[in-house]
Order: sequence, then C-alpha cells, then structure tokens
Amino acid sequence: MIITIDGPAGSGKSTVAKLLAERLKVRFLDTGAMYRAVALAVLQSDAEESDVGAVAAIARDADISFDNETITLNGQGVAAEIRTPHVTAISSVVAANPDVRTRLVELQRAVGHQGSLVTEGRDQGSVVFPDAEFKFFVTASVDSRARRRHRELIAGGSRLTLATVRTQLQQRDARDESREHAPMKPADDAVTLDTSDMSIVQVVDSVASIVEE
Ligand code: DC
Repeated sequence: MIITIDGPAGSGKSTVAKLLAERLKVRFLDTGAMYRAVALAVLQSDAEESDVGAVAAIARDADISFDNETITLNGQGVAAEIRTPHVTAISSVVAANPDVRTRLVELQRAVGHQGSLVTEGRDQGSVVFPDAEFKFFVTASVDSRARRRHRELIAGGSRLTLATVRTQLQQRDARDESREHAPMKPADDAVTLDTSDMSIVQVVDSVASIVEE
C-alpha cells in the first residue's frame, strides 16, 4: 500500500507522514530530504546551482539513501546539514532540474517497490506514484506555515525574523509551483486538507481515519 502526502513547506506534511507511517507500521519516505541532499552535494562542489549539466552530473553520481529517519549522502549522515537555510533555498532550484528529478524519482519508485510506504513531497501523488491507494494534499495559509517554520527555526537556534521566513517560504512556493517539470500540485484524485486551524494530532487522525476505514 502506498500513501502519498504532498504539500508546500510548513504545511505539516512531514510530521503527519512520519506519525501516520508509525501508526500504520509502514516505512516513511521524505523525498524533500533527497532533493536537499543533492543541493548539499552541489554546495560541496565547485558547481553553480544554475549550471544544469553540472547539477545533473552531481545528482547522477551522488549516492543518496533514505531509511526512515536517516539520510545519507555518499555514505555520510547529513540530517542536520540538509536543513540549513542555504541548502533549503538551493533545494528548490535543483528540484527544477529535469535530470535531477528523473534520478530521484527512480530512487523513490525503487523504495515503493520494496513494500508499503507513506511518502511525502510535492509530486508523489501526481507523478511518482500515480496508482497510490491514498493521496493527500496537505496545505495551510502562508501565515500559519511561516509561523510554524519560524518556530522550528528559532528552536534550532536560528535568528531569522518571521518576515524573512515568510518571504523565503513564498519564494520557494513560487519556484516549486511554477517549474516546468512536475510542479507542486495536488493529484486529481487527492484529498486536500487545509491544516491552518488544525493541530498535527487532528490532521493525523483525519488522514488515518480515511485510510483505516
Ligand atoms: O519538503 P522540503 O522542504 O524538504 O523540500 C525541499 C525542496 O525540494 C522543495 O523546495 C521542493 C523540492 N521537492 C520537490 O521538488 N519534490 C519533492 N517530491 C520533494 C521536494
């Protein structure tokens, strides 16, 4: 069984996907972490993120694996390194590169072939797993997403202001929604949930109730 949970940054989709996977005792895949790992590999190289050919080659050669909580790049755990604001900004640039997407979609489908999965991202229901049994698109107002993301960043020691976080979030949304290849959008058969006024527990309960029915 494949369950896809797509949506924009700060919508709560990661937490919901992780908790749902635990509840259903199936694996969890964070596909954003994979795009972030490519962005980190680009930053570690001499290449510019705008150099389409160089970025494609980096993605092709990178050894990226994701196993529940653990993301590795060329054998190194990079869970913290992929969450910096710089990697975050570059991740949506490299995600617009069609060769990067082809490579990561291949890896994501390989994980899907190994058995039941809750997978989250931007295109999991629309492109990667069109035949998934359950598809959700989790969204929220830009203000509530910015507030959530700001709280997380402050808790992690960042000093970015709420206004900056909001602007960066909107820039990333715009890039993710307007790219030519697999733009962020709900699959035609996805259930859309607006979580602006919902707690994470409420969201997990409503998603789980649809799946468990
Ligand atoms: O979900 P996230 O913030 O970790 O994702 C980082 C970036 O990766 C995001 O800006 C868009 C991109 N992404 C994507 O294009 N497709 C996915 N399936 C997951 C993430």
